[in-house]
Amino acid sequence: MSAAKDEFTQFEHEGWQRVADKYDSVWAQSTRQFIPPLLEAAEVSAGMSVLDVGSGPGYVAAAARQRGAVPTGLDFSKQMVSIAKRMFPGIEFREGDAQSLPFQDSSFDRVLANFALLHLSDPERACAEACRVLKRGGRFGFTVWAEAADNPYAQLIDDAIDAHADLAVKLPSGPPYYLYKTKKDFRQAMERAGFNGASMTHAIHRIEWIVPTPSYPFEAELSAGVRTAGFLAAQSAHRLRAIQAAIEDKVKQYAKGDSFAIPKAASIIAVAKR
Ligand SMILES: C[S@@+](CC[C@H](N)C(=O)[O-])C[C@H]1O[C@@H](n2cnc3c(N)ncnc32)[C@H](O)[C@@H]1O
Repeated sequence: MSAAKDEFTQFEHEGWQRVADKYDSVWAQSTRQFIPPLLEAAEVSAGMSVLDVGSGPGYVAAAARQRGAVPTGLDFSKQMVSIAKRMFPGIEFREGDAQSLPFQDSSFDRVLANFALLHLSDPERACAEACRVLKRGGRFGFTVWAEAADNPYAQLIDDAIDAHADLAVKLPSGPPYYLYKTKKDFRQAMERAGFNGASMTHAIHRIEWIVPTPSYPFEAELSAGVRTAGFLAAQSAHRLRAIQAAIEDKVKQYAKGDSFAIPKAASIIAVAKR
């Protein structure tokens, strides 16, 4: 990637470079479950050119290829790009910033972003970029985590942090953790980015994240996350232990057989370019 544009982008970039090799084993079981409904919502079909923004290990691009589309993946982490190339040879993955896409106007039939927007310092800029590189009538589909009230995993993490963390810890400022609240908020943001708001679909999709032990989510957030990991790393050992205990306690309520099945939810949005 060219020079990081701002403090938050730089913070995220360093973070993703650091945890890239853990993403597949730690988070993918959860994020991959959103890909089939995302492709459905964006109406991806054979022959379409598809850009997968924030492609990580490349699952969205690979799922688009399975439908007969012609995908390109883009991620600002060199590490992620090399993992994706290794996992899915034959698909083009390249380095670049979602907020300044290295493609000409009207290049793609579809642009997809699975859990990428909340990692950007300026998500609306990335939406405007998605709109720019789409052909007329092309569709942009993306997922973002649902806010805590509708998302038990997020609630469980937020509750532990609110109860035990030093909230004054300073991190580079980024977008809100849950982006937009209502369908109307999403529609207005899409219209600002140049899309046809009336074409927008919005659905909450729910999954279960299956983890082997109650300590797994805390360890995942601490060692394989980026923003929350930065926040946790700045806590005292005493506070960290209290946060861990609170999270583990809540995870135990989701025991299912030998594992723990934690509910998660995300918004799936699809919208067409005017
Ligand atoms: C939560 S992961 C999602 C990965 C993948 N889309 C999936 O479905 O599992 C977020 C990805 O966005 C990438 N990313 C974060 N900020 C970015 C930016 N400004 N430009 C391009 N990629 C970015 C990260 O490197 C990471 O691979």
